[in-house]
Amino acid sequence: MKVLTTAKLPPEALDLLRSKADLVLEPTGLPKKWQELLPFTPGVHGILSLLTWQIGAELIYAIPDLKAISNDAAGLDNIDLKTATQRKIVVTHTPDLLTHATADLTWALILGIARRISEGERFVRKGLWKGWEPQLLLGHDLWGKALGVIGLGRIGLEVAKRAKGFGMKIFYHSQTPKISEEEIYGFEYKTLPELLTESDYLTLHTPSTPQTRGLIGEKELKQMKSTAFLINTARGTVVDSMALTLALKEGWIAGAALDVTDPEPIPSDHPLLTLENCLIVPHIGSATVETRRRMALQASEDLLTALEGSHPKFVANPEVFSEDSSEPPFIMKGIWRWGSQAK
Ligand code: DGY
Repeated sequence: MKVLTTAKLPPEALDLLRSKADLVLEPTGLPKKWQELLPFTPGVHGILSLLTWQIGAELIYAIPDLKAISNDAAGLDNIDLKTATQRKIVVTHTPDLLTHATADLTWALILGIARRISEGERFVRKGLWKGWEPQLLLGHDLWGKALGVIGLGRIGLEVAKRAKGFGMKIFYHSQTPKISEEEIYGFEYKTLPELLTESDYLTLHTPSTPQTRGLIGEKELKQMKSTAFLINTARGTVVDSMALTLALKEGWIAGAALDVTDPEPIPSDHPLLTLENCLIVPHIGSATVETRRRMALQASEDLLTALEGSHPKFVANPEVFSEDSSEPPFIMKGIWRWGSQAK
């Protein structure tokens, strides 16, 4: 078996792949358009891909022996799932494994923007700190405020649970029938307009789909409180970046904290980077040693399992097994359904 992946995977995952396959290694681990991946693909049966690798129909059709694609990510927006399924190519991903790491990072961003952590750090490093001052770098409380969660899947749920410890009210907009009533006990469902107007901290946990693209644009940002903060650890495309820039400049909202941007990476001359009320980190939601190791190992195991003709744990297109499968594959726990309020 021949597998394409990146040399930048954790070594344990590369060792696991090597135990059963010949590896073709892309050296950088950086984003790749399909044309840049093409030279690595001759004779390849499986790809262990990164979320920044564009695996569209062009690439899928250009690799005649391709049997499986395993995305080292929960999100699948970089893969043309429909084409892969039509070609009976198994696609796997890594939901579940990064839930807690991403929920923690969301909280780092909520606290970071509420308490002006990166501004404060820049202030100290610039040598501007002259001593304690009553009005220096005042941020905002969390206690007693309302956290609005858009998308109550696994990550959204964990973010919401953590808010209880901060003494916040928890509102959500999402329909996730597979999450039990017990799990959402104490959280209040809101329509999208209600969530926008009533939340003090609004955090996004939707997948990137045509329905969620630009979900938060000018109209939505204008409905938010002028004292509210927007947090995005989902996908950059869920927020209209230009509308957000205006919102932050003109004070429609108080601030934003982003782990993901559109475009990504954000160009160094992007206006968002000039704004003190915008905190941006480079898509590190799942970036802990433990989580990235778990993700890469599971993605490797699932790829090898698929290439051996068996059912991997986290299959994104179970239909490919429909004719010959007796064992039900893993199905995503959270199901996203967007109401009429969503664009
Ligand atoms: C994912 O897996 O989709 C995250 O965005 C990155 O780990």
